[in-house]
Amino acid sequence: MKSSVLVAGAANLDRMMYVERIPDIGETLLAKGYEEHPGGKGANQAVSAALWGQPVCFLGRIGSDEPGKILRSAMEKAGVNTDYLLEGSTPSGMAMDFIDLEGNYQAGVLAGSNADLDGGDIPMENALWESIGLTVLQLECPLSFNEAVGLESKKSGIPVLLNAAPAQTIPDTWWNWVEFLVVNEVEAESLSGVKIMGLQEAYYCLEKLMDRLDQVLITLGAEGLVYGKGSERTHIPGHAVPVVSTLGAGDAFVGVLAAELCRGQDLHDSALIANFAAAASVAKTGAQNSYITPDELKCHPLLGNLYNKEYLDG
Ligand code: RIB
Repeated sequence: MKSSVLVAGAANLDRMMYVERIPDIGETLLAKGYEEHPGGKGANQAVSAALWGQPVCFLGRIGSDEPGKILRSAMEKAGVNTDYLLEGSTPSGMAMDFIDLEGNYQAGVLAGSNADLDGGDIPMENALWESIGLTVLQLECPLSFNEAVGLESKKSGIPVLLNAAPAQTIPDTWWNWVEFLVVNEVEAESLSGVKIMGLQEAYYCLEKLMDRLDQVLITLGAEGLVYGKGSERTHIPGHAVPVVSTLGAGDAFVGVLAAELCRGQDLHDSALIANFAAAASVAKTGAQNSYITPDELKCHPLLGNLYNKEYLDG
């Protein structure tokens, strides 16, 4: 049965420094706190989808080191299948993040073992591909690896969701096999040349991106998201919650979106539900650490009532 989400992507150990504000060039600031959490866009999305209750298989690469152990065990604890998590001598990926008092972040990522992934790492077992209902990719791993996973998915009739993050140039041929595109404002601008200052530009940007494919979602932080599907254009507003850290909120969104799409939910309801999961995640520190199960969302002190009303009650 095609019920699993395949997430292929990066796993990084996030080293997070909490500061009053993001330091200027040449400036040294005294930090208010330091934390280490499992992260990486691929691993985050896998954990988010698994906690949301969908079977998830992760394809990636970690180092045989302490960060690698942390990354593997966090995914396994969330229920992610790590049979295709490769391990090698290159150190695990790492991200250095500054988080300010408003929860904004600035990050640098050292790819480490993620950069060793290539087309030769794609599993060929028919049983795996027959079990996958949706493939999820991001852009933290080499393009050749992503392309190989995308093409293999297409060959097996599996829809591909591309979260084009971090922003970079994508070969035009990818639009032959990407079915869903998810980007934030920065990534949307890099792909379309349209700077998003408000809803009007967001819709204009959506039109530009939809010249390439039929289903596009642009996340807008506190403003929620806009999406287009065929001739449908919709804005789903954000939810007001106190923000601790926005790091990984986009991955919370993509993971839950993928889980819902994979279980047959339509794009509108999948995006609506994922929008709640993203809002819940900003209220807590860490990326994976802030992700939520359906039961936790139902009982969420700030979002639970609205979720039950908007979604569960129809
Ligand atoms: O999207 C957030 C993630 O991006 C972090 O967990 C960090 O590892 C970087 O990859």
